[in-house]
Amino acid sequence: MPLISPSMLSSNFVRLEQELEMINNSEADWIHLDVMDGRFVPNITFGMPVVAAMKKVARKPLDVHLMIVEPEKYFEGFAKAGADILTVHYEASVHLHRSLQVIKQLGMKAGVALNPHTPVTMLTDVLQDIDVVLMMSVNPGFGGQQFIDQTTFRIRQLKHMINEQGARTLIEVDGGVTLENATTLVKCGVDVLVAGNTVFASADPADTIKKLKAVGK
Ligand code: DX5
Ligand code: ZN
Repeated sequence: MPLISPSMLSSNFVRLEQELEMINNSEADWIHLDVMDGRFVPNITFGMPVVAAMKKVARKPLDVHLMIVEPEKYFEGFAKAGADILTVHYEASVHLHRSLQVIKQLGMKAGVALNPHTPVTMLTDVLQDIDVVLMMSVNPGFGGQQFIDQTTFRIRQLKHMINEQGARTLIEVDGGVTLENATTLVKCGVDVLVAGNTVFASADPADTIKKLKAVGK
């Protein structure tokens, strides 16, 4: 059974507390928070104060996806805000190995996100240090985009690398995840499904989370 991390990006920001309560009472495992700076990606969302506010209501681990340049400047801030898993982009990290150590020293799980064009082999030599690889299956910046098909091949490649090294790294997929493609993704080796639009645009978000959770049962 995959872990489910609903993306708050597609939630109703006017009702954040109720949206979080819905997730608290659902079968979701993590809560995915997309932090964008308008520089690494062409969109701006929210930062540490909003994450800290959500932490007060959330009863599941906060899975914080940093789509920002120079992410290392804010590790401490996000740790204090209550991030449980902190993911940086490979493409935004000059000293990735150091970043992974710092994130873990701050008590968080360390994630690395890969844009659709970045070969998974770029992570070969740091795989043992990564708790979660966040495989982008859309170009980061917006919710509700279409899944890029090549991602399934990339996931199989990454799974092979993880098995070969006997690493304990989880594979999380982010972007365009639907009830239709979720089964294939889990079969390819995905451990964590992020879903924004699929959850929040559905008539019954908690039930959609339940259905995603049941994938591959
Ligand atoms: C996109 C974000 C995603 C986004 C996914 O840059 O990283 O987390 O919320 O949204 P959906 O599931 O709607 O594609
Ligand atoms: Zn994300």
